[in-house]
Amino acid sequence: MSKSDSPTDNTSTKPADPEQRGQFGTRIGFILAAIGSAVGFGSIARFPMNAANNGGAMFLLMYLFIMLLFGIPIMIAELSMGRTAQRNTVGAFRVLTGKTRPKWMGVGFLYFLVAAFILSYYSILSGWTLRYFFGSMTGAYFNDPDAYLTATQEGPWALIWHAVVMVLTAVVLTGTVSKGIEKVNLVMMPALFLIIVGLAVYAATLPNVAAGYEFYLQPDLTAFTLPVMAAAVGQAFFSLSLGQGAMMTYASYLPKRTSLATNASIISLSTLCFAVTCGFLIFPLLSTFGLLSGERAGLGLIFGPLAQAFAEMGQPLGNIIGALFFLATFFASFTSAVSLAEPAISYAIEEHKLDRRRASILICALIYIAGIAVAFNSNLLDLEGGALTDFFVILGGFTIALYVGWFSPVAQAIARMDEGEGVKLGRFVRPLMQWVMPLVLGVLLLFSITGTPCFLSGDANSVGLLETFGAPDLMGCEG
Ligand code: TRP
Repeated sequence: MSKSDSPTDNTSTKPADPEQRGQFGTRIGFILAAIGSAVGFGSIARFPMNAANNGGAMFLLMYLFIMLLFGIPIMIAELSMGRTAQRNTVGAFRVLTGKTRPKWMGVGFLYFLVAAFILSYYSILSGWTLRYFFGSMTGAYFNDPDAYLTATQEGPWALIWHAVVMVLTAVVLTGTVSKGIEKVNLVMMPALFLIIVGLAVYAATLPNVAAGYEFYLQPDLTAFTLPVMAAAVGQAFFSLSLGQGAMMTYASYLPKRTSLATNASIISLSTLCFAVTCGFLIFPLLSTFGLLSGERAGLGLIFGPLAQAFAEMGQPLGNIIGALFFLATFFASFTSAVSLAEPAISYAIEEHKLDRRRASILICALIYIAGIAVAFNSNLLDLEGGALTDFFVILGGFTIALYVGWFSPVAQAIARMDEGEGVKLGRFVRPLMQWVMPLVLGVLLLFSITGTPCFLSGDANSVGLLETFGAPDLMGCEG
C-alpha cells in the first residue's frame, strides 16, 4: 500500500478506517456518552435557576419549543457532519468540502479551540464539586459554608482539584473510544440518573416542599421578553453541547446504522427531563430550610444555598445527601469535561499523528495551564463562562447552520442527515438551516456583541461582549 492511501493518512479526504480511529461499541454507549456531554452544570444549576427567574412553567414550555425548533435540528446537522466525515472537526470540514474550502477548516479549528477553552474553566468548577463531595462526607463546610466556598474557589485548593479533574480526563481519554469514553459513561450516567431521581423523590417527602415547587414553576406570562428567549437559545445550545465539535466528534465514532433524528431527539429530550428533575430536587430542599431567594443564579445556587441546606440537615443526613448530590454533580460535569477535551485530542491524533496517549496528556496539560488564571481570580468565571461562552456557543450554531444550509449541496446535506434506519427529518431540518437559523442566530450573535437594544430588552439589563470588555453601552440603555 502506498503511503497516500494508508488508513492513517490524515490529509486524505477519503473516509477513515474505523478500526484505526475507534468506534462506539454499542448504540446505548453513544447515546449515554452524548447525554453525558450534554448533562452538566447547564442542566443542574443553570436551567433550574433560569426557569425560576424567567417565568417558571412558561420558561419550561418556551425552552421545550426552542429545543424542538433549534436544538434538535442543529444537533442532527452536527451529528450528520461528524458521522459522514468520520474525522476530527478540522478533518471533517476537509472531507466534507473536498479540500476546496480551507476557510471552513478554520471553523473546525475554532470548534475544538473553543471546546478546550470552555473546559479550562469548566474543569475548575468540576474540581469544586469533587472537593464538596469529600467535604460533605466529613461535614467540613457545615459550620461555615461561606468560608468554605471562598477557600474552594480560589488559591491552592482550586488548583489541586483542577489538576485532579484534568488528570482523570486524560486517563479516560488515553483509552480507546469504546474502552475510555464509552465505559466511563456506561458507569457514570446510570449512577447519575439513579442518584438525582432518588434525591428528587426524597426531597418530595420534606416539609414545606410546595413553596419550593411554586418558586420553581409558578407560571408568569410577562416573562416573555426577547432577552429571555435569547437566553433560552444560548442555554439550549450550551446545555446540548452544540456548536463546539463535541457532538460532531462523538458522532464521528458512530457507525452509520441508526437514525440521527432519533438519536438527537433521545439525547435532547433526556437532557431536558434531567434538567427539569434537578429543579425538583433543588427547590424543595431550599424551601424546607427557608433558603429560597432569587438572588443567586446558576452555580452560586448549588455551592451557596444548597450547600447551606445540607449543612442545616446536620450529621449524618446532611453528609449522606450532600455527598450523593455532589458526587452526582461531579459525574455530570466530568462526562462533559471528557467530551470537551476529545475534539482537540482527536485533532492532535489525526492531523498531527500523535498517538492517543501522548495527545491526551499534551492537550489536558495545556487545558490545565489555560485554567490556572481562573483558580486565582474566580471573577474571571463571570467573563469566561458568561459573555464569551455565550458568544462562541451561538457562533458555533450559526456556522453549522450556514454550512449545512448554504454550503453543502441540498441532496447531499439531506442524505447525510437521513442515513441509517428509522425516522428521517432531513427534509425539514435543511430549510431550517437555510433560513430560520442563520437569521435568528445572526441577530442573537449581533446582540451578544453589542448587547440587546433597550426597546427589545424591557427591564432586563443585557450586557454585550463589547461592554464587558469596557466599551461604552452602545444600545443607550442607561438613559
Ligand atoms: N453541556 C455541558 C453543560 O451543560 C457543557 C458542555 C459540554 C458544552 N460540551 C460542550 C458546552 C460543548 C458547549 C459545547 O454543562
